Amino acid sequence: MNIILLGPPGAGKGTQASRLVEERGMVQLSTGDMLRAAVKAGTPVGEQAKAVMEAGELVSDAIVTQLIDENLAGLAPEQGVIFDGYPRTLAQAEALDSLLAARGRRLDFVIELDVDEDALVERITGRFTCAACNTPYHDRYKQPVSAGTCDVCGSHEFKRRADDNEEAVRTRMAEYRAKTAPILPHYEARDIVRRVDGMASVAAVSKGIDAVLDG
Ligand code: AP5
Repeated sequence: MNIILLGPPGAGKGTQASRLVEERGMVQLSTGDMLRAAVKAGTPVGEQAKAVMEAGELVSDAIVTQLIDENLAGLAPEQGVIFDGYPRTLAQAEALDSLLAARGRRLDFVIELDVDEDALVERITGRFTCAACNTPYHDRYKQPVSAGTCDVCGSHEFKRRADDNEEAVRTRMAEYRAKTAPILPHYEARDIVRRVDGMASVAAVSKGIDAVLDG
């Protein structure tokens, strides 16, 4: 099964994708994660993407489509894929159609996480992760049990994304409204869009997604 998780920043795409990887053995292809890895490694793609990402704007269609193409190429045909944060423009949606068709893959569902943008600003600006093992935390909802120490690996180092400040988050949301939400009709025409309430608890969102996949 191949699915797209669609929703504005902080909607819970990454949270749900990780869970599906664990529970169903699917492969998560997150262009955000790929770009952050490129920035960290200082590759030419990372150099181009860094400032654009920090401002909350979209990286070029050509760069992200190439990343997806390269990552798809390494997968066995039977491995199901979760596209997390891709496509984000109509051009990317059309490019993905071609990439999937070339590999004989079919897109089963586009799952849109329905959310309230103002609540998301708080969700995003409060989040941080362990710098060693990436366990997610939140200033308000999930502090480490022992302050300053990761519950999972004991590290004392934590990090925040450079684009998780209010100004960049507002830009990311505006980009979503202007460029990403308009791709929905592309998939609605094929009757593969399903909506799940992204403001519910993580467990309830998981249940909603499972109902779509198993329905
Ligand atoms: P990307 O990394 O894709 O970021 P994003 O879309 O802004 O999404 P986030 O990762 O912020 O949120 P999420 O929906 O995954 O939510 P999460 O599960 O983390 O992209 C970053 C940048 O890269 C872009 O701005 C752009 O510059 C560039 N880029 C990437 N892809 C691109 C593309 N295709 N084209 C062009 N440019 C591209 O959850 C958020 C928080 O909420 C967490 O703290 C989590 O624990 C919590 N949470 C999750 N679910 C719930 C729930 N149900 N209830 C309560 N809390 C919850």
